[in-house]
Amino acid sequence: MITDLKLLAEHPSPSLLFFVDEIKHNIDTCLSWVGNQPERLRMHVKTHKCPEVVKIQLAKGLTKHKAATIAEAEMLAMCGAPDVFIAYPMVGPNLKRLANLIRKYAGTKFSVSVDHPEAAAMLGNTMTKEGLTLEVLLDLDMGFKRTGFPVEAAALDLYRTLASTKGIKAVGFQTYDGHNQLEHHADRLAELDRVWSQIMEMRATLEKSGIAVPKIISGGTPTFILYSKLNVPGLECSPGTLTLHDFGYGNRYTELKPFKYGAGLLTRVISKQGANGITVDLGYKAVSGDQPPGKRCIFPYNPEFEFVGHSEEHLMLKHPNPEKFNLGDSILAVPVHICPTSALHRHAIAIANNQVIGKWEIVGRDRDLGC
Ligand SMILES: Cc1ncc(COP(=O)(O)O)c(C=O)c1O
Repeated sequence: MITDLKLLAEHPSPSLLFFVDEIKHNIDTCLSWVGNQPERLRMHVKTHKCPEVVKIQLAKGLTKHKAATIAEAEMLAMCGAPDVFIAYPMVGPNLKRLANLIRKYAGTKFSVSVDHPEAAAMLGNTMTKEGLTLEVLLDLDMGFKRTGFPVEAAALDLYRTLASTKGIKAVGFQTYDGHNQLEHHADRLAELDRVWSQIMEMRATLEKSGIAVPKIISGGTPTFILYSKLNVPGLECSPGTLTLHDFGYGNRYTELKPFKYGAGLLTRVISKQGANGITVDLGYKAVSGDQPPGKRCIFPYNPEFEFVGHSEEHLMLKHPNPEKFNLGDSILAVPVHICPTSALHRHAIAIANNQVIGKWEIVGRDRDLGC
């Protein structure tokens, strides 16, 4: 993390900051959790959406990535990422966009999640028409109820459909358990176990009948530690947030102590009013408003700040000694939820070894990179 904010005197606020040494440390720590076997990691890029971070991952041998949007997938392909899984249902014009993307980046192998027979048919038709075959993973709902087919017998039929549909090739399951945020390790493990044995049974049933289920892509940050300890062939762990880490997860899970904040926000005092009031330029257009007001960022060097109010361009705070601050003073904030926060910024100021080393574009924040 940056220790001397004077370094940023010439940089505008509010700005997103990437702490490159900490990002490398976090990626190394993720790797160490999977026994330094990069093939067991498929980190989600939704957190940073940034080619320079992808290049750091590639240099460390991480060749598998997860994306939520076609734009993120295109950003990955532009970086030369060889294996990109789009964990998002493809419908409407995205079907043809995906086919164009596959054709344009022959050096990248793409795959997508599917959770419905209609989706399988649409993908199969599009790929067949385009003369392509696309790898697909059956998205199983672990209880999050966002996307995914329920973990029940009918899921076997859907997998068999995926395996027999022209234009697509079934290569496994995705199990994303975003609902499993239980704070205590044992509770989280119990919730995972509730469904995991059924998933293993489904895999065994399919394989016994000659239908391969070579990979299973599982989890985010809270369940990473659980999946990292499972000895299951073809299992890939897919945390995203841990690349940058944030206060939301860091404050909740003691297991995440080894991770460091890889992102921050530069904000400045823009107004002082009343007895204790300080206003900074960190509105919810610069730090994500998806968390409750007052719980959207922390101030690691100024923990005495108390929340008063939040608007588009302003964050109103109270401080016991406001006279300590001058208009224009720089303040460091750390977001509670980094993924939607990084998407609010066109660039991040990249800092390594207490030096600004560049301005890194958050390329994947755009919806369409023109593929
Ligand atoms: C499908 C999927 N996989 C992986 C992740 C990464 O999860 P986390 O942000 O908890 O690391 C997400 C995050 O939303 C996701 O939607």
